[in-house]
Amino acid sequence: MDAIVRDLSGWIPVLLDVWRRARRLPEGPRDRLLPHELREVTQAVRKISAGLTGGRSLAGTRYMDDPRLLGAYLLYYWPNSYAQARHVLRFVMAASRASSVLDLGSGPGPVAFAALDAGVDHASAADRSSDALDLARTLAVERGEPLSLLNWNAANQPVPEGKFSLITVSHLVNELWLGQSDAVSRRAGLIERACAHLEPGGRLLVIEPALRETSRAALEMRDRLLDKGIVPVWPCLFREKCPALLKESDWCHSEIAWEPPRLMADIAKGAGLHKEALKMTAIAFMRASEAPARTDDSCIFRIVSEPLASKGRQRFMGCGARGRIGLSLQTKHITESNRRFGRLRRGDLIRVEGFEEKGDGLALLPESRVDFVP
Ligand SMILES: C[S@@+](CC[C@H](N)C(=O)[O-])C[C@H]1O[C@@H](n2cnc3c(N)ncnc32)[C@H](O)[C@@H]1O
Repeated sequence: MDAIVRDLSGWIPVLLDVWRRARRLPEGPRDRLLPHELREVTQAVRKISAGLTGGRSLAGTRYMDDPRLLGAYLLYYWPNSYAQARHVLRFVMAASRASSVLDLGSGPGPVAFAALDAGVDHASAADRSSDALDLARTLAVERGEPLSLLNWNAANQPVPEGKFSLITVSHLVNELWLGQSDAVSRRAGLIERACAHLEPGGRLLVIEPALRETSRAALEMRDRLLDKGIVPVWPCLFREKCPALLKESDWCHSEIAWEPPRLMADIAKGAGLHKEALKMTAIAFMRASEAPARTDDSCIFRIVSEPLASKGRQRFMGCGARGRIGLSLQTKHITESNRRFGRLRRGDLIRVEGFEEKGDGLALLPESRVDFVP
């Protein structure tokens, strides 16, 4: 996270300066809000948080057109989305560098700027809120970033023209066709149409909130896309229907520990939010015909849970060529070669050598080896 935190800390004075000018406030500290500023922002962040996570009354509404809410978005959710996208792009762009990005539902552009900072040459940001796009334009001018802006409504306009090596769709999908019985298939249709704008070998990245409801809806959309020849290439190893959907209580998300910048920590504290980790459901897709071959190695697993409480055992859920499966190691079987198992974290990619099937899961043995897959 070091480079991400460093780059983000370079953005904070710009966000604060742009916010103060938009709110017609005098200049202030470069890394934090003054107490009266913090009061306004925390109030609005509380409203957004309740409206997008709790009752979801703001989801799908034009909250970006309210200057106080847009301002709060800029100072709190913008850095959050930026950090999420930078983290995921490390994996998504590891296989091939992207030269151009189309950011759908960009808001004030955190993901477009994250892609530019990750090495993309040019970004286009598309959103239906012209206020959010204006803010993205101001940020681009401040930083001299190559950003084009497109007024675009997902509900009734075609995907913007052009070919892109990367398309990002961050925290937009769950706001579309909300409450409609065919929402999942409409969302899958949008992603399918967007994929037609990928250059050969291009990737489309969806990021969604890690709530049970939004995460499961994203996984359902993932499954619809399989039928359209669009496959998940990260973080999923399993290219069949998502096994997390089998049980109503399951969902799947990434979680990355980080130290948020002071500005975010102050706002989170003031608004009573706990943001000690970045949480999201993120999936990168490719056209199946261009995707790298899937792994058939049934000893490779993505860890998809935190450590699960279990008496006398260390336990995680893993997902791989076998689907989603419990992995466990009895405390009495911990040895030098498998000790790493107990220190695993959600998202780790591991190869386990030497285990036995036990019940509906896999049990590691004293001789098991646990290695990280690069
Ligand atoms: C939660 S914000 C996400 C902003 C940014 N992508 C991020 O990750 O922080 C959702 C964005 O989707 C936009 N949006 C919602 N419905 C839309 C639609 N029908 N067409 C285009 N944009 C839409 C909103 O204006 C808002 O900027």
